Amino acid sequence: MAKRLPYSAPRLELITPRSMQKHRTVEISAAETVLDDVGDVKALLREFGSPLYILSEKVLRAQYRSFRDTFAAPGVDTVVAYSYKTNYLPAVCSILHQEGAWAEVVSGMEYDLARSLGVPGAKIIFNGPYKRPEELARAIKEKALINVDNFDELDLLVSVAENLGIEARMGLRINFQYGRQSWTKFGMNADNGEALEALHRIKKAGRWLRFEALHNHSGTFQVDPDIYSRAAQVLIAIAKSARALGLTPGIADFGGGYPSNNRLKPAFDVPGGSGSSGQFLAPFAEAIVGPLSKARKGFGERPTLVLEPGRALVDTAFRLACTVVARKNIAGQGEAVIVDAGVNLVPTAYWYDHGINATSNNELQATLAAKPVAVFGPLCMQVDVLRERAVLPNMSLGSPLIISNVGAYCITQSMQFIQPRPAVVMVGSQGVEVIRRRETRSDIFGMDSIPPRLRSKGATF
Ligand SMILES: Cc1ncc(COP(=O)(O)O)c(C=O)c1O
Repeated sequence: MAKRLPYSAPRLELITPRSMQKHRTVEISAAETVLDDVGDVKALLREFGSPLYILSEKVLRAQYRSFRDTFAAPGVDTVVAYSYKTNYLPAVCSILHQEGAWAEVVSGMEYDLARSLGVPGAKIIFNGPYKRPEELARAIKEKALINVDNFDELDLLVSVAENLGIEARMGLRINFQYGRQSWTKFGMNADNGEALEALHRIKKAGRWLRFEALHNHSGTFQVDPDIYSRAAQVLIAIAKSARALGLTPGIADFGGGYPSNNRLKPAFDVPGGSGSSGQFLAPFAEAIVGPLSKARKGFGERPTLVLEPGRALVDTAFRLACTVVARKNIAGQGEAVIVDAGVNLVPTAYWYDHGINATSNNELQATLAAKPVAVFGPLCMQVDVLRERAVLPNMSLGSPLIISNVGAYCITQSMQFIQPRPAVVMVGSQGVEVIRRRETRSDIFGMDSIPPRLRSKGATF
């Protein structure tokens, strides 16, 4: 007699449709094996191993151009300063610099990288709440724009500039209250007089400071352009106060935070879902450029508008290809697959529902067979879940899966936890090029040593 399977109760599953867009109405469940912009993913995995980050040069350049053009406006000089920490693979930064981007850096290490890639100091914006004296000295000498975060840093900047005998190009980072989740950790507060006090201190510092900019970075993955309208009002008001003191700011820097094509998990999204997409940046540009182009009294005749996008430029240019290494039926939960890439490589899976697609030569067949499946990573950790529910066709062992929009904060925040990190290839005008090789054991343990007294006889380390 055939062996009976244990009874498992049927489950009803609500599959939330994605926002209606031109080419996408529901969660994509299957994609072609050969993708328009990166070619044959299976072949790439065979050649470079799995998992594998794949950068599409074409998409990266297109994202940059579309962002730049969206924020360009008459009467304003628009500068796009790429936020390095989002993804500082040297090849990525180099492409964006080739396109005309400046560098926005938040540490001496990033500053040094930008310089080593050939970015002149005058095209570097140095942000962040902690800058060492020697880093400030270098930035002053090389004429970078230093956005000051706090009063201690302001004092330090004056003393470093005075010691060098060189005027520092500087701006002030401003914060303001906007709803419950305001980013008030950074900068001087506009609401309580702190920003005004900072202007007075700048004035007092006299010839050691050249006050050029007001800066605000209001948060990340902002889904409501209104916060940028508020930022514009705040920065313009402070710029006017600065002019009343005889200071002459000409740069309005609105930081980053513009959304990418990723989809926030419902817990982090606005009710009903924001349906954010990089195509929808125009309202963000209007919120900023509209008021700024009328702000002659604050930022002068021809203001420079600086934007520091990160995720809006790089997110969609990267995919992570990985492989199904096991399949499971989890009691009371349904089907799951384990893949060889986890939250160590896609930390953003904690707050995004990344698109996860199967590669398939027969999209129709795969779509008809699609069902909700949990996608787990390979780490020995309960939290290593890439998607609680992805809609996927039947998976065989060894099937490739593609995780989309992993360009931002995945590689820079990836962890050497349990598994070495994968290679990164770029597919572009020159075919396939390796832009980061796969990590090896000695990359991970090469910095370590064992004191001789602890070394066991058989140790080969
Ligand atoms: C000062 C500053 N600028 C720009 C960015 C880039 O942000 P995003 O990737 O959200 O555009 C960040 C990131 O938090 C930041 O702190």
